[in-house]
Amino acid sequence: MNTISAGHAREGAYDVLLSDLDVSDVKRFQDDSIWPYFERLRKEDPIHYCSDSPYGPYWSITKYHDIVAVNMTHGVFSSEQGVTIVDLPEEYWTPSFIKMSPPKHGEQRNTISPIVAPENLAKLEGLIRRRVKAILDGLPRNETFDWVDKVSIELTTQMLATLFDFPFEDRRLLTYWSDVAATTPRTDHGIDTWEKRRAVLSGCLDYFTRLWNERKNAEPRADLISMMAHSPATRNMEPREFLGNLILLIVGGNDTTRNSMSGSVLFMNQNPSELRKLCDNPVLVSSAVSEVIRYQTPIAHMRRTAMVDIVIGNKQIRRGDKVVMWYISGNRDDEVIDQADSFIIDRKDSRQHLSFGFGIHRCVGRHLAELQLKILWEEMLNRRLDIKVVGEPERVASNFVHGYSALPVQMVA
Ligand code: HEM
Repeated sequence: MNTISAGHAREGAYDVLLSDLDVSDVKRFQDDSIWPYFERLRKEDPIHYCSDSPYGPYWSITKYHDIVAVNMTHGVFSSEQGVTIVDLPEEYWTPSFIKMSPPKHGEQRNTISPIVAPENLAKLEGLIRRRVKAILDGLPRNETFDWVDKVSIELTTQMLATLFDFPFEDRRLLTYWSDVAATTPRTDHGIDTWEKRRAVLSGCLDYFTRLWNERKNAEPRADLISMMAHSPATRNMEPREFLGNLILLIVGGNDTTRNSMSGSVLFMNQNPSELRKLCDNPVLVSSAVSEVIRYQTPIAHMRRTAMVDIVIGNKQIRRGDKVVMWYISGNRDDEVIDQADSFIIDRKDSRQHLSFGFGIHRCVGRHLAELQLKILWEEMLNRRLDIKVVGEPERVASNFVHGYSALPVQMVA
């Protein structure tokens, strides 16, 4: 692992000229050295212009309240040109409702949102608990295993298969498509060109098109495919838009919750006194879950595009400029969150964080994500599981998905 010391990272962050500072470099997310760069921007230039980066020029919004303000003005800062710092080549562009404005955005969002409504979550709770118990009871004892693969991926992928009513035995395809869709082409997972990425995702579209065709001619059911196939807002989608919405739901439901599950084990290991607090007082589990999601910030940024010339924080943003809201930085803004760099499971306002976004695109699946994490930790506490992290986590090389590809652990029996 290429972990660099905190002192070294700090020097690097403060050495560079402010005008040359580019926080988008994926290496700093992969080696976890990004924090002092954001700390400096929050202090010295919270609305910062980077004129040259691999993604072209972009603005960085790094403080909590500025991020909320940008998010709440979707008429001024639109998601229609994309939600990540990367400009997708036109031929690979897929529409989806996160990249839409009202009224179409609301119509499509309302089509799928009943699946995560409180009544449905109440129905899912028993199933999630049974699966959590089975996975925890089957974990190896006194040997090293990968928590990401055995627990985080397995649980979130099982859930996603249920939401789509996807053939259970093929569920790891969902993980694969999610991993490919969530990143731009890169060398470390074999999908190193846009063309290869498209080929994988067209396999995903073919698979789902078969399910769509079966379900559109059957009675409406409570799964995401059937809901979309029968709703007037989505039933006539072009294949590209269907693929776009599938990617949104697969990545949205998969990577984010998975990385929170992995982060939760890592943070409890790094902060044994917090783990002790939770073991002594399990009612803290809900606020611990929120703190994990804040501290992890599984989606590091969301991008918008300015629709008009506008001044924020004395900075002139021009129509067409790319504006990147760094949720990962806003969540460490200590003018809003007390001791923001510390992991504290019993914070007074633990739900006050940016990880789910704000405004019309606020995460639709957030209560399901919280429920899965809560049940996982309740069952771990019930079993008094002692999970020890026994090696460096491997972090994903991405400035968008903030998470782990591996976390070696041992369960002490
Ligand atoms: C939107 C984070 C779990 C489905 C979002 C956004 C974020 C986010 C940051 C964009 C908000 C914005 O534009 O500001 C997370 C995190 C999760 C999680 C951190 C877990 C800890 C889930 C789950 C699902 C889901 C489990 C599906 C079951 C979606 C969808 C959107 C979305 C469909 C688009 C909403 C819209 O455009 O109206 N999520 N998410 N997410 N999320 Fe999640």
